Amino acid sequence: MYTPIEKIRDVFPFDPFKAIVAPRPIGWISTISKAGIPNIAPYSFFGAVSSDPNMLGFTSSGIKDTLENCRETGEFVFNVVSGELLEAMNQTAKALGPDESEFDFVSLEKAGSHLVKPPRVADSPAALECKVVSIRQLDNLEGGKTESWFTIGQVVGVYINPKYITTDKRFDTAKARIPSRCGYMDYMSAGEVFELLRP
Ligand SMILES: Cc1cc2nc3c(=O)[nH]c(=O)nc-3n(C[C@H](O)[C@H](O)[C@H](O)COP(=O)(O)O)c2cc1C
Repeated sequence: MYTPIEKIRDVFPFDPFKAIVAPRPIGWISTISKAGIPNIAPYSFFGAVSSDPNMLGFTSSGIKDTLENCRETGEFVFNVVSGELLEAMNQTAKALGPDESEFDFVSLEKAGSHLVKPPRVADSPAALECKVVSIRQLDNLEGGKTESWFTIGQVVGVYINPKYITTDKRFDTAKARIPSRCGYMDYMSAGEVFELLRP
C-alpha cells in the first residue's frame, strides 16, 4: 500500500514515521544553564553521526531548555539509559521551567563530569561528554525554516561504569539492557546480541 505524504494522516490516524524509523536509541541529554541549573531530558531524534572524531546529534522540536543550554554553554553529556533507569528517563521528559532541575524532580543522582560542566547520571552504564560543534535550524523542501533544531556535539570524554566493562575491555551493551524508542507510546528492549562479520 502506497501513500503520498500529503495523504498520510487521512489514511493512518497516527503518522507511522516514528514507528517505521525504529527502534531509535534514546539520547538522555544533560546540560547546565548559564545560571548553573542542571537539566536533563530524553531525545530520540538522536544518533551517532560520525566517528573519527566521534560525534552525536539530536534534534529539538521547537526551542527547549536543552537547546538553549547547548547554545549558551556549548556543552552536553549523553547518558545511556539502562533498563533500570527507564522510568526515571521518562519522568525527565516533563516540561519544567529553565529554573527547575529534572535531576531534583526525579531525585536522580548526579555525578561530576571531567571535561564539561553538565553532570552525568551517576547510575548510567556510560556517559559521553560532548562539546557542541554546530547547531542548525533545519530547512524544508519549500525553502522555508522548520521548527527543528539539530545540535551536533563532538565527544571529548568517555565514562563507562566499571560494572559494564567486560574482562576483554569491551562495553557490555547487552548487560545494560538499553531500551529504545519506537512510534506511538511504544518502546523496545534490546534483544539478542549476535556477531556478523563484514564481507
Ligand atoms: C523517549 C522520549 C524521546 C523524546 N525525543 C524527543 C526528541 O527527539 N526531540 C524533542 O524535541 N523532544 C523529545 N522528547 C520530549 C522532550 O524530552 C521533552 O519536551 C522535554 O521536556 C524537553 O526538556 P528540556 O526543555 O529540558 O530540553 C522525547 C521524550 C521522550 C519520553
